[in-house]
Amino acid sequence: MTGGIVWTNLAKCFDGTDVLRGVSGSVKPGETLALMGRSGSGKSTLLRCLALLEPTSGGSAWLDGEQYLDDGEVIVDPVTIRRRISLVFQHLNLFPTMSVLQNCILGPVRALGIEKSKARAQAGDMLEALSLAPLMDRYPATLSGGEAQRVAIARALLMRPAVLLLDEVTSALDPESVYSVLETIQSAREIAGNRLSIILVTHLLRFAESFATHIGFLDQGVIVDLLPAESFSAEARSVPTRKFVAREQAGWKSAVHTSGR
Ligand SMILES: Nc1ncnc2c1ncn2[C@@H]1O[C@H](COP(=O)(O)OP(=O)(O)O)[C@@H](O)[C@H]1O
Ligand SMILES: [Mg+2]
Repeated sequence: MTGGIVWTNLAKCFDGTDVLRGVSGSVKPGETLALMGRSGSGKSTLLRCLALLEPTSGGSAWLDGEQYLDDGEVIVDPVTIRRRISLVFQHLNLFPTMSVLQNCILGPVRALGIEKSKARAQAGDMLEALSLAPLMDRYPATLSGGEAQRVAIARALLMRPAVLLLDEVTSALDPESVYSVLETIQSAREIAGNRLSIILVTHLLRFAESFATHIGFLDQGVIVDLLPAESFSAEARSVPTRKFVAREQAGWKSAVHTSGR
């Protein structure tokens, strides 16, 4: 079994509805998987199941060669897995009553047992590297949406995770902030180097094509296409993926043109 994260045949059922129906994939250290698919296709559920934030109905998963899910059962201490998989959501990632610096040192001190002065130094270095140092003493309510997401990414990286899960972290932002967050994601991967596996849920096809190693397209709980990023648009074969790619390539004009039909 290789390093990074591997999952096979993951299934998730919510109240009798199958939301994930046998999803398999893997992301090696240093690689990035971009997950795309319509709203409700199961992208967030997949990330939450991999991070053990949600019970899984079936399937297996391995982290750095160690199996932690077996036929839907968690077979190791979930705390040790959650510590090595960091998840950043679309909204509300930061503790509102703590400054940026306090947000960044809490996990390393509490969960990793790093001494406070060392955690503070590491957080300072990370914030500096991601051009966030000027925000260190600010509180989340005073940050723009883009700044808050960049801090959330810095905080996630400070946990030195094996896997970083980014769930639509740019979806609620204005275009300018989207770029700054995408730059931060790029810097984060450079800082973490080839020890980090990233799974990124995004609607930004061009970014996914240029940044990811592979792109997976989920439709109704099934990965219907999984291809190297550079050949995704040309070689994806399923009907939902082709529709999505065609719309993206046609751009907003066709979206306006076809609306109301
Ligand atoms: N806690 C939940 N209880 C019941 N259904 C849920 C729950 N979370 C998600 N779902 C359903 O699972 C499906 C997939 O959701 P989700 O993984 O959030 O999709 P995506 O992230 O691709 O938009 C949706 O139909 C959603 O309504
Ligand atoms: Mg989602």
